[in-house]
Amino acid sequence: MSEQMNQENGFGSSLALLDALGIGPVWVRRELAVEEVQEQAQQPASATPIAAPVEAVGAVEQPSRAPVEPAREPTPVAERPAVQAPPAGAPKAPAAPVPRSAPVQEEGGPPAWLDEMDFAASLEPVLIPEGEDDEPMPAVDPVIARIKQMDWPQLKEQVADCRRCGLCQGRKKTVFGVGDEKAKWLFIGEGPGRNEDIQGEPFVGPAGKLLDNMLVSMGVKRGDNAYIANIVKCRPTDENGRDRPPSPQEVASCLPYLQRQIELIQPTVLVALGKTAAISLLGLDPTTPVARLRGTVHRYQELPLVVTYHPAYLLRSLQDKSKTWADLCLAMSTYQAQAR
Ligand code: URA
Repeated sequence: MSEQMNQENGFGSSLALLDALGIGPVWVRRELAVEEVQEQAQQPASATPIAAPVEAVGAVEQPSRAPVEPAREPTPVAERPAVQAPPAGAPKAPAAPVPRSAPVQEEGGPPAWLDEMDFAASLEPVLIPEGEDDEPMPAVDPVIARIKQMDWPQLKEQVADCRRCGLCQGRKKTVFGVGDEKAKWLFIGEGPGRNEDIQGEPFVGPAGKLLDNMLVSMGVKRGDNAYIANIVKCRPTDENGRDRPPSPQEVASCLPYLQRQIELIQPTVLVALGKTAAISLLGLDPTTPVARLRGTVHRYQELPLVVTYHPAYLLRSLQDKSKTWADLCLAMSTYQAQAR
């Protein structure tokens, strides 16, 4: 894609993004496609090709802290909260939404590099239809039931006062989320770090700068057709005060807020930034590597969800920055397909 085309298509700053990512000089699409195919071939079956997006579950799973994505110790599956069918009142996929900032794909279909990929693996969704087994359904948490009915002001107030898990004890500020509440793009990270905890806004540190550059390359920005949120609203720290991944219980406590945010926003495409966001939203096994989730359009309930690396991880991993650009291209082509 030439820079001129990029500008015409609304990807105006794609080269700027590549530069921001530090990969401008080394970006070669065809090589990337080959690399992706090799990576996919080494992984066990996991994901449905983009031509046939899967129904993954909108459910609770547990995470790992994004910056160490590839080598995170898994939490035992038994500790995970039960995965259920998407809750009633789930967000409806918007019918042919009209993009406001018009990131578009190359004419005549998906970008050429997508055609070069051969995604052999497919993911069978682990969907447990409600009432299909003989177990009685667990009682609905009354707080979650109320959260499902909340409007924006109520939800913000509820989060600000939240005591649903132990993270409230160490927080300075809750980090609700920021952006256009009618955004078509929703970017979801893991949880606040030190800077975010102080400022009460997601992605305000160095990783946030990179994320902002990524957004600009897609024709959107914070507050303009993009919303940024996290899986958990309070900063998880270890006993030494360092950032850590949220525990499964913390994710389970907090996820209803994000689920309600998604219902209220009704985005066209979700972008999961890193493993915690991906496995939490898709209800996947925490041992699933991000590498296996990339290159596929998943589903959070009816909404398309694309997985990419966490910006904090990318700051340290030059070799994966080019892959993120490929993921964003996939997200943009998915967006365009929805808008048709
Ligand atoms: N990392 C995240 O996942 N979210 C933030 O808000 C900041 C850093």
